[in-house]
Amino acid sequence: MRKELNGKTRTCGLLGNPVEHTLSPLIHNSLAEMKDINMVYVPFLVDIPEIATAVKGAYALNLLGMNATVPFKSDVIPYLMEVDELASDIGAVNTLVRTDGGYKGYNTDMSGLYRAMQSENIILEQADIIILGAGGAARAVAYMCANYGAEHITILNRTLPKAQAIATEINESMKKKGRWVEDCMEAMPLHAYTELPDRRYIVIQSTSVGLHPHIDDVVIEDKKFYEKVSIGFDLIYKPAETKFMKLVKEAGGEAYNGLKMLLYQGVIAFELWNDVKVTEEEAMMVYAKLEEAVRV
Ligand code: ATR
Repeated sequence: MRKELNGKTRTCGLLGNPVEHTLSPLIHNSLAEMKDINMVYVPFLVDIPEIATAVKGAYALNLLGMNATVPFKSDVIPYLMEVDELASDIGAVNTLVRTDGGYKGYNTDMSGLYRAMQSENIILEQADIIILGAGGAARAVAYMCANYGAEHITILNRTLPKAQAIATEINESMKKKGRWVEDCMEAMPLHAYTELPDRRYIVIQSTSVGLHPHIDDVVIEDKKFYEKVSIGFDLIYKPAETKFMKLVKEAGGEAYNGLKMLLYQGVIAFELWNDVKVTEEEAMMVYAKLEEAVRV
């Protein structure tokens, strides 16, 4: 049972608009209870023009940490003391950690995706990766893959210039940091998947296609494409099995949804705020609760 809230209770919360459907309170309040940490997590609905006041106010109110969600992931950045390298590359912060004088921003969506992949024994280092989509999520995924040592990344998008812009940006950024000596990321229009070299790829589905209630939609229908997929990771977690995942499995590959990414972005934020380590066993207990919550 959770302890009574008292004078020593620390508060964390979510800055968002809207916030009603968030699963973050479930993650953090479950972890606080499990680890017997005197912390409570609540949603804060923030009016869009009030974000600066909200971040400053949170700090003034001694809040331990915050998450930022749509539409604030970029808008919070100017009001932070410091921004972690991956978050800064991506230009999006979802976790604010209290430090002396202000909050430090992190992107645990992407470190969470990495940890979710690790938990499934998916190795990104030296992998040949395909990213489907070129929106905000796909761009962040591309930075994550590049930062964590992918050998080659192909980004496929319906609107080619958006994919090209991401590939150019990441090639430049990785070369500037000395991580790549040549361009390792390339862009292709979605329909050009037929021209992909015959290899086995890790494919990260980063579009919104297939999201509930449009559960029969998928970006690429052609079964031939899926013969090249060894692992398919869909960022979508509702439905639990997307059409993309079904097609990957039917062709003999492994498929995962985005629920563990959601779990681990929360776990990592919780660890940063409380300076603790969440065990795999504890994370799996929260995961079971998330599965239940997503089902209804
Ligand atoms: P987010 O910020 O969540 O990534 P977004 O920026 O709206 O969302 O990006 C959505 C992605 O899904 C884009 O890559 C989009 O392709 P376009 O850039 O061509 O618009 C992709 N997408 C959405 N609907 C699609 C569809 N029916 N077929 C193919 N791609 C689609």
